[in-house]
Amino acid sequence: MKKSHFLLGLLFFSIGAIQAQSYNNLWIPDTLSGTNFNLTIKDTFAQLTPGNQTITAGINGKFWGPTLFFNKGDTVHMNVLNKLNESTTLHWHGFHLPAVMDGGPHQLIPPGTIWKPYWKVTNNAATYWYHPHLHEMTEEQITKGIGGLIIVRDEVESALALPRTYGIDDIPLVLTDRDFNTQKQFVTVPYGDSMVVNGTLRAQYSVPGQVVRLRILNAAIERSYNIGFSDNRNFSIICSDGGLLNAPVSVNRYLLHAGERVEILVDFTGQTGQSFDLKAYNASLGNFVAGGENFPNGPFANYLGKKDFTMLHLNVTAQTAAPITAIPATLTSNVLLNAAEANITRILTLSDSTGVTNPPILGPNAFIINHKLFDIDHNEYQVPLGNTEIWEIRSTSGFGHPFHIHDVEFNILSINGAPPPAAQAGWKDVVFIPRQQTVRFIAKFDDYADIEHPFMYHCHISLHEDEGMMGQFVVTQPASSSLEAIKAENDIILFPNPASDRLFVSFSDPNMQAYYVRVTNTLGKSLYMLPEPQLSDGIDISLFPAGIYVLSITDQKSKKTFTRTFTKVRHNP
Ligand code: C2O
Ligand code: CU
Ligand code: CU
Repeated sequence: MKKSHFLLGLLFFSIGAIQAQSYNNLWIPDTLSGTNFNLTIKDTFAQLTPGNQTITAGINGKFWGPTLFFNKGDTVHMNVLNKLNESTTLHWHGFHLPAVMDGGPHQLIPPGTIWKPYWKVTNNAATYWYHPHLHEMTEEQITKGIGGLIIVRDEVESALALPRTYGIDDIPLVLTDRDFNTQKQFVTVPYGDSMVVNGTLRAQYSVPGQVVRLRILNAAIERSYNIGFSDNRNFSIICSDGGLLNAPVSVNRYLLHAGERVEILVDFTGQTGQSFDLKAYNASLGNFVAGGENFPNGPFANYLGKKDFTMLHLNVTAQTAAPITAIPATLTSNVLLNAAEANITRILTLSDSTGVTNPPILGPNAFIINHKLFDIDHNEYQVPLGNTEIWEIRSTSGFGHPFHIHDVEFNILSINGAPPPAAQAGWKDVVFIPRQQTVRFIAKFDDYADIEHPFMYHCHISLHEDEGMMGQFVVTQPASSSLEAIKAENDIILFPNPASDRLFVSFSDPNMQAYYVRVTNTLGKSLYMLPEPQLSDGIDISLFPAGIYVLSITDQKSKKTFTRTFTKVRHNP
């Protein structure tokens, strides 16, 4: 297979240098803003290579999805419609929200179902993303192209003189790579042969001759990208995963691992008319960093392994009307968590399953956390609400793993005993654990206790995650007053019934509160999944075909589920 790629490459090359040197214009994802977001996930196809249609999946489009703009403090409502022929989930990576809204492996969205999570945005201004998280299917569904960026704005960031005109001087870059078969279809493998930026192969883009912000996401299945520019210039890191750094950090390389984001400022002032390449300097990566290996053959062999390669060709054009031409000296003053305030230190281990015989780990050479594979029914930790915790990740694995935790942004305390580099001394939700080293981070678990719904932690290399390098924890409330028994079933009334547009729910017991509502048709197909729905405006059933439906409602306190049927009738004009 790899050989035929190579021959095909030679063929194209021999057709003419023009073809070999041509660039495609970088696609910039559309934007959605406000507080209500409609996202439709569907199978589709896209022209990614000249003259070929590649089967893909996208959100509201042909590959990848729109960039969502949130304002800190707003409550955002998501309407996620799964039009795939299979189940999926959609996870809001980096967000602090209730576990039931998180979109992890437990919030399965069956085909044809609308999932309506909502939450108050408390995250700092930064670049986040959303992606599928269905256990054992994450690699495949991300490979098809499902995902999108989220840009949060807040008052602190807005007060700074930073580039923020989307697509002009504030440019989203989603880094990934793909493997194509001879029919130019995606192959689900950890490493692709072709660099893909925003769904574009051999991408080029025009940037104005001034300070430009690049919001970079590593959305690869496995590969890390050692980011730098072809003229070896310095650039300034201003934002890590979960917020601004105190001050810009000037570097000429930055190694970005799967799941991580970084925002950088690049000064193109006075360079109008020149061109530069944004490159991955992966030739210098160690053998145990994803992308630093050089496999001659086998499932991990790929063209980009242990090579320096161009990710994006940049052409510097004229300045815009009100250009940013200076990099601010300071950005914010983060109040980081203090190790002395930690309630507990949890020790997690990362290891290779090779040779693990007690208990035996099935499957070829998986990577594991705490000596076991992921079990969706097992909560490894109960974190008391309000705890400040140190998580110490000790790796004996022969390979480096980007470790990610849901629910919180954390501060790195140490990497192999040393304080984190300045560019990582802020808010993070992914941290690279180098092979056979220990990383400690600290996080505070505020707000969302829920014994029923766990949060995940895992390696963000989708292959490893799918193979079971994942665990889960619940945030628990200190024991409260005893659960009150739920009154008789006829305390829940749906009205009007039959209904045409909106269906209302009333509880005669004022202590009852809807925790989860699901609407299914008589065939058992679920149409709506409504976590902690706000029922005061009723449930919109206007688009349902006429017929009989089952509404099941789970009570917040008792977690008991009750079902009721209702009839949908066509609106009478
Ligand atoms: Cu971006 Cu649990 O993932
Ligand atoms: Cu996440
Ligand atoms: Cu891993």
